[in-house]
Amino acid sequence: MSSFIIQGPQKLKGEISVKGAKNHALKVIAASFLSSDEITIENVPQIEDVNRLLEIIEEAGAKVEKNGSTLKIQCSKLSKRGLSPELVPQLRSSIVLLGPLLARFKEITMPHPGGCQIGKRPIDVFLKGFEAFGVDCKIDNYTYHFKTKGLKGMRFDFPKPTVTGTETLMMAATLAKGKTTLINCAAEPEIPALAEYLNQQGAKIKGAGTHTIEIEGVEKLSAGTCQIIPDRIEAASFAIMAAATDSHIKITDCEPLHSEIPLNTLEDMGVNISWGNDWIEIKGRKKELRPMKITTKEYPGFPTDLQAPIGVLLTQARGTSTVFETIFEDRFMYVDFLKRMGADITRENSQKITIQGPTSLTGKEVESPDLRAGIAMVIAGMTAEGETKIGNIYQIERGYENIQERLNNLGAKIIK
Ligand code: EPU
Repeated sequence: MSSFIIQGPQKLKGEISVKGAKNHALKVIAASFLSSDEITIENVPQIEDVNRLLEIIEEAGAKVEKNGSTLKIQCSKLSKRGLSPELVPQLRSSIVLLGPLLARFKEITMPHPGGCQIGKRPIDVFLKGFEAFGVDCKIDNYTYHFKTKGLKGMRFDFPKPTVTGTETLMMAATLAKGKTTLINCAAEPEIPALAEYLNQQGAKIKGAGTHTIEIEGVEKLSAGTCQIIPDRIEAASFAIMAAATDSHIKITDCEPLHSEIPLNTLEDMGVNISWGNDWIEIKGRKKELRPMKITTKEYPGFPTDLQAPIGVLLTQARGTSTVFETIFEDRFMYVDFLKRMGADITRENSQKITIQGPTSLTGKEVESPDLRAGIAMVIAGMTAEGETKIGNIYQIERGYENIQERLNNLGAKIIK
């Protein structure tokens, strides 16, 4: 397994451009199953999660042409009605293929999606949603069998907002017969971006980006071109990194409006930050960092995907901070590694930690337990005195393109 060795502490300087959003790209790739015509996707991040999803759809018969960050996908001849029992368990987000597949075929099988180490990741809401469409779902031995006479428009109330749940049912509804109304939907920016693209292909979706989405089913979706939106989590992770290392950097090709709460949080902590239409600039800290009470929330709240990075930054603030994780159970797998590096953190329970700061961090041997905890370890390594070795960096490469080279261009010292 590869590792990163980081020499810290290191101040960063210069410009870094943000790549396309992983969590938009994966859904748009899945949506290619909805149409027989060729689709073009631009600004696709070159990351492991995208590679895995492409392998899964190619194995199912999709034709994929890759040219840098542009993909052309054609799904006119899908050969199989089942998804790979070897590949699907490696990628949690392969669940989003379910909507498009069921919209196109009447019978499919799919293994339980895996791949992500964050807490419990059930798919009960997806199953309830598909039952409401008139799909018969059976499970045996970790494999799901779905059968339908054709998806029928329906009304579904999400018991709690789920991002991929909303996207999966929304995609399925585009080809269902009649009208579907989805209530208590998630509203993350990747959802209206997906809806806008599907509408360009002929879908009839209204209300995406709000908590109620209405979809009028259509016969078919045609060819389309999609530009992947900038990754708001990557942009804000870089901003946190600059704050933690007290650096001056400019983050370009981003959409700061999608990260208002995290950026305002940095400002409140005392970070010298400003932003415009498509850039964010951090000029170190105005003063000593202030502690914060962070509670993760659905969009537009503080994103769970920035919980670990901000946890690292809070070790550098004077006083007591708390982090309350409300989206996932036990997303604190990075805490023991940070403590090993010298952080003073108490786990109150599976959803809350208390951080005392500031503490000097020292380089140690740590792991990347999941994608976002992995980038948090990179931030910690760049802040710490001495050498940090991060194992299992596949988890980081799942979602951050060519991160070593891009950060080294800013003056980081990372070797693989
Ligand atoms: N949930 C259920 N049952 C379900 C589905 C979800 O109980 O059938 C629960 C989850 O366990 C969780 C909550 O609902 O407690 C919300 O999870 P959600 O379904 O919104 O998460 P997701 O759609 O699986 C996406 C992102 C995650 C991001 C979350 C929250 C993708 C591919 N993944 O996951 O991104 O953390 O929304 O914003 O879009 C990441 O990029 O590192 C990542 C984990």
